[in-house]
Amino acid sequence: MIDQIKQIRAELEAVTTATPEEVEALRIKYLSKKGAISALMNDFRNVPAEQKRELGQALNELKNFATEHINALREAAEACCGCDDALDLTRSAAPVNIGTRHPLSLVREQIIDIFRRLGFTIAEGPEVEDDWHVFESLNFAPDHPARDMQDTFFINRQPDVLLRTHTSSVQTRVMTSQKPPIRIICPGRVYRNEAISARAHCFFHQVEALYIDKNVTFADLRQTLLYFAREMFGPQTDIRLRPSYFPFTEPSAEMDISCDLCGGKGCSFCKGTGWVEILGCGMVDPAVLEACGIDSKEYSGFALGMGIERITNLKYRVKDLRLFSENDIRFLDEFTAAH
Ligand code: DAH
Repeated sequence: MIDQIKQIRAELEAVTTATPEEVEALRIKYLSKKGAISALMNDFRNVPAEQKRELGQALNELKNFATEHINALREAAEACCGCDDALDLTRSAAPVNIGTRHPLSLVREQIIDIFRRLGFTIAEGPEVEDDWHVFESLNFAPDHPARDMQDTFFINRQPDVLLRTHTSSVQTRVMTSQKPPIRIICPGRVYRNEAISARAHCFFHQVEALYIDKNVTFADLRQTLLYFAREMFGPQTDIRLRPSYFPFTEPSAEMDISCDLCGGKGCSFCKGTGWVEILGCGMVDPAVLEACGIDSKEYSGFALGMGIERITNLKYRVKDLRLFSENDIRFLDEFTAAH
């Protein structure tokens, strides 16, 4: 019997890993009522009295060892993540957090959508630009302050490589590569060398629109602006054009919309005027058309440009510009309903 005990122990010691099924098979083979160890226990009754003490002790040790060894193998098998038994198919899945659209993206899409309905298509240009596309072609005098290091981020001087300060550069890119009629809308990021505060940032976003064809007049511009303002801010919205100056448009104007907080009566938001400024616009200066190879006697056009942050502030009353780029989920989550 002592040989059988030693042999069973050796067999068990040889098993160092097992699947859950194999562990169960071992348990049945050695520890169940009909198993090998129980059979030895039964035989123990017939053992001569003088051997009982020694064999009894050995048998007990074997049983304890087998129980502990098989339990340890079972624990190891269950901890193994690849095993089928570790998969609980009834467990509910981990919640998936659906993100929100960024408010600037929401507003950009709304602006694009309104102009798309008027037949405008999207055009894009590079953020790293040269002086000609950002300034010279657009009629900026060589000593114009916008060309100053104070306002513009230069990557290289002579030849000048810079970060575009406005999306008007896309106008020139399109005018030099396409023939009229041109009807484009250009959304994009622009950069200016400003200290970051609640009201200014070193990068922000603009949308530019450009329409060039035969006989385009200021009346077309005005009607386009009115359509845009009413689609964006509601049918009750009025617009007002104030004379202004931009190097690349002549005449130039700035557009105000009636303040939708006070309905035009005057409040703290519109500083008592009843109007809030939203964009710059004008008729494309003939010098700009000519610089881009378009015959200014045959063609005319209008351009307009607006800040997406500004429109977003008007729609959603975001008081601090920095919120747009801080990626604070608490802020971004507020726009879940605006999908
Ligand atoms: N580029 C101007 C700016 O960044 C905005 C602008 C004004 C664009 C008048 C235009 C325009 O197309 O006609 O301030």
